[in-house]
Amino acid sequence: MCGIFGYINYLVEKDRRYIIDTLVNGLARLEYRGYDSAGFAIDGDKKNEVFAFKEVGKVAKLRKLVEDEAPDMTKVFDNHAGIAHTRWATHGSPSRLNCHPHRSDPKWEFAVVHNGIITNYKELRALLEQKGFKFETETDTEAIAKLAKYIYDNNPHLDFTTLAKTVIKELQGAFGLLLKSVHFPGEVVAARKGSPLVVGVRTARKMKVDFVDVETTDQNEALPAETASQNLALKKSPGLRASLGASLLAPPDKSLLHRSQSRAFLSDDGMPQPAEFFLSSDPSAIIEHTKKVLYLEDDDIAHIHEGQLNIHRLKKQGEHDGTSNVRAIQTIEIELQEIMKGRFEHFMQKEIFEQPESVVNAMRGRLNVEEKTVTLGGLRQYIGTIRRCRRLIFIACGTSYHSCMAVRGAFEELTEIPISVELASDFLDRQAPVFRDDTCVFVSQSGETADSLMALRYCLERGALTVGIVNVVGSSISLMTHCGVHINAGPEIGVASTKAYTSQFVCMIMFALSLSEDRASKQKKRLEIMEGLGKISEQVKEVLKMDQDIKNLCLKFKDQKSMLLLGRGAQHATALEGALKIKEISYLHCEAVMSGELKHGVLALVDESLPIVMILTRDDIFSKSLNAYQQVIARKGRPIVICNTGDTEFPGEKTDKIEVPKTVDILQGVLNVIPLQLMAYWLAVAEGLNVDFPRNLAKSVTVE
Ligand code: F6R
Repeated sequence: MCGIFGYINYLVEKDRRYIIDTLVNGLARLEYRGYDSAGFAIDGDKKNEVFAFKEVGKVAKLRKLVEDEAPDMTKVFDNHAGIAHTRWATHGSPSRLNCHPHRSDPKWEFAVVHNGIITNYKELRALLEQKGFKFETETDTEAIAKLAKYIYDNNPHLDFTTLAKTVIKELQGAFGLLLKSVHFPGEVVAARKGSPLVVGVRTARKMKVDFVDVETTDQNEALPAETASQNLALKKSPGLRASLGASLLAPPDKSLLHRSQSRAFLSDDGMPQPAEFFLSSDPSAIIEHTKKVLYLEDDDIAHIHEGQLNIHRLKKQGEHDGTSNVRAIQTIEIELQEIMKGRFEHFMQKEIFEQPESVVNAMRGRLNVEEKTVTLGGLRQYIGTIRRCRRLIFIACGTSYHSCMAVRGAFEELTEIPISVELASDFLDRQAPVFRDDTCVFVSQSGETADSLMALRYCLERGALTVGIVNVVGSSISLMTHCGVHINAGPEIGVASTKAYTSQFVCMIMFALSLSEDRASKQKKRLEIMEGLGKISEQVKEVLKMDQDIKNLCLKFKDQKSMLLLGRGAQHATALEGALKIKEISYLHCEAVMSGELKHGVLALVDESLPIVMILTRDDIFSKSLNAYQQVIARKGRPIVICNTGDTEFPGEKTDKIEVPKTVDILQGVLNVIPLQLMAYWLAVAEGLNVDFPRNLAKSVTVE
């Protein structure tokens, strides 16, 4: 949840309007991550002054607030640091007060924006209250700003990095955060642990380097020494080692100050050069400014000052986490237009219509239909090990879970490896057994979903081989898994996932094809599937042509309170996914029912008025699916049927039909889900709802 954005200019003159616009535009791009309130902090007119603006609701309201209460927008800064945040409430209700940035004190000596959860904030808060701090909000984040001030007050010679390290050492939980201070004008510290952070860099002159060194220090070495006698820690709270006491009055080790030199942004003569830095929860907010980005990794602390970027890591003594000691500066390829709505009304609509391309992008360079080969480079080294695994466990949430359900049968059929599909939260709740010879596959659009990430850590601890099927490059799941496949769907902005589902589907089928490459008995089926994949994009286009018909069909559901969606076999997953789309976007209650289960209870709901959609495309359990259809018709139900083009089984007077092209049974779900995506979309539009930003939801669910 939540999006953070920062902008720092050094030796580049910018007026306040530019700075505010940059911050607010950055927030607008990140709004899909959470949107109950937004705010930012920038420098004021006088030295040591900070202006903060906060507003409940969407970023547009914050923009309006700034216009209404505009400070002098013409004031020019040649070195300035601003931080901003769009929030999705976790601790504390959505209100101006709880909105970020949070401050250390009424003078805003320290300001912080934060994504994630500080799990020990109650202890920190209690301790700081004992020291005389007055908390203004219900958030966990406020403790960070107050802790920074407390440490600074007790040790004013600390440089910003050392101060930040001291603060961060005390934080437990997950965070991506930006810290700004009147004591360190024009500087920002950014830190990540479990929440993504990207740094974009724009320099006047061409950058000569493509990486930044990481300075790694032992946790204690880097920080002011603690002395037992001065240690005022709450003895009951060992997590707050040495905490916050007069220990911090000890002088810092001077050699640590400014010890590391960034190699990245100095000019040839070693003099600082003009530079701008953009910090963001993801690159979509940076791309309009620069394509040069650097992804921070967990435990990185980045300090931006005087046009330089220094990266530090805190490690426990003797710890080797295998992280590289350089961070590459990458050139990101996504185009801004990819993240704009283009000719569409909503991102969700655009993303539904992008599917003919996105499924091709998932296969590009991987599937060769002529030569009948599949090559997944990201799995190559591990494919033999996976073939020999005890079980394949797919772990995901929401739509990603449904895509796993949709391909379960295909994996069973092609690989004959035992397959289980798990909801990440439930898997963790059960502390399900995992063994070293298991392969655990994590499927996630964002690659940042907290439940999936925690399940990943759980499986890594148990020695399982882990595979990521992820959309966002550089996301936590893609970095933490042993191997994986990027689905290459491009940015998905609409909160309701659509193109990621079909791309995950296609990538997982290619995964199953790779695993079954050596199985003689499966070759015929494999070839059929590959041919099917070769045609799927054109067939998706065919389905999309029904857009207006589906829009008209949806008028029948006006003012309904509930509907049923029936499917059997792999199409039960399609029904689950369709029902989720309808619920989350149109707020119409919709239940997915496995057709075979209808007679065991749900049939009692069926009458002539209940809206029902039945997925009845032809597969080898079609005759069984027809039983459910007969049961509904016999109760005077008038279902909408999703069937194959030209199927005469469903006479028009009894049913409305949505006809989709026929493909290999294993791939049929890719086509069948699209009418349901369109149905969800048009139902929501008909109700005048905000399709891209459904209430109470966020795109990336980074809390448990
Ligand atoms: C529904 C939706 C969510 C996500 C779920 C997992 O449209 O988008 O159910 O699928 O929150 O997210 P990822 O795939 O990012 O792990």
